[in-house]
Amino acid sequence: MADYFKLNAEYYKVPGHFTFKDVYLAQYVRKDTLERPELYEIKSDDIFVVSYPKSGTTWTLELAQLIMNKGDPTYSLSENHFYRIPFIEFHSETYPRLTGLTAMQNIESPRLLKSHLPIHLFPPQVLQKGCKIIVVSRNPKDTVASYYNFYQAYPSLLGDYKGDFSNYLKLFMNGKVVYGDWFDHTLGWYEYVVENNGLFLKYEDMKKSPRDVSRKIAEYLNCDLSDEVIDEIVERCSFARMKMSGLINIQEVEGRPFLRKGAVGDWKNYFTLAENEAFDEVYNERMKDSGLSFEWE
Ligand code: A3P
Repeated sequence: MADYFKLNAEYYKVPGHFTFKDVYLAQYVRKDTLERPELYEIKSDDIFVVSYPKSGTTWTLELAQLIMNKGDPTYSLSENHFYRIPFIEFHSETYPRLTGLTAMQNIESPRLLKSHLPIHLFPPQVLQKGCKIIVVSRNPKDTVASYYNFYQAYPSLLGDYKGDFSNYLKLFMNGKVVYGDWFDHTLGWYEYVVENNGLFLKYEDMKKSPRDVSRKIAEYLNCDLSDEVIDEIVERCSFARMKMSGLINIQEVEGRPFLRKGAVGDWKNYFTLAENEAFDEVYNERMKDSGLSFEWE
């Protein structure tokens, strides 16, 4: 770790956050399912979208759900996104319908499920049963900029973070944000997917060519769809359409919507030159043998 990002002993800690097997997590992540992943009743036709937070998960899930329904929007329009697509490790006493473990029992198969868990905390039976897994990833500079905004937009989930971006970037570079170290998370899933015929997507490719990426998702899910249907799905999932949707773009804090900018390169509005240089140094070191690269603008 570059000295630049060294945390002092008194770095900002969010109340209720905890560390499990070296991964920093929020209170909403069920500890019992981490300790006993067998609590999940996984079916071999379950389909997972997995990501580090703020990588385009919601977008990928909306695309995948429409693809699974052959472009028919009836189900997607029937219910709030967060009710339609169980977030497996999520647990809330305030919103019991959002608790993943029960929500996943209440939807029909094939089930589309979401998780942000890193691979070493993922329920192993998902991997053993050969479930389909779509991983979506995003360049880490835009990811951290988006995550910083998300911390401020969802204090009830992530704690009332009051620091500035520079402090947040230090937390991110030290794995002290929810779901831990971006490099471990991303490389862990990338290696798994490459070896096990999963599907690895990048946010930047989705922005550049949503049709090609949607086609890839359809092929992976064995859905034979015409170009017209793919085009309709892409249009329904455009940033503008999703931002307008009251079923998806939920706000907890006025003026801080879930769908914020939806752009590649917004990190430039957050990083100083010195932060960018120090980040690149760490990035180049950690990614050097991975075979994985990202676009930044
Ligand atoms: P920004 O905060 O940079 O705007 P996740 O769903 O993993 O939490 O990711 C959220 C990020 O994806 C947010 O990024 C959000 O705006 C962006 N996003 C969501 N839907 C999108 C879409 N249809 N097109 C482009 N970006 C989208």
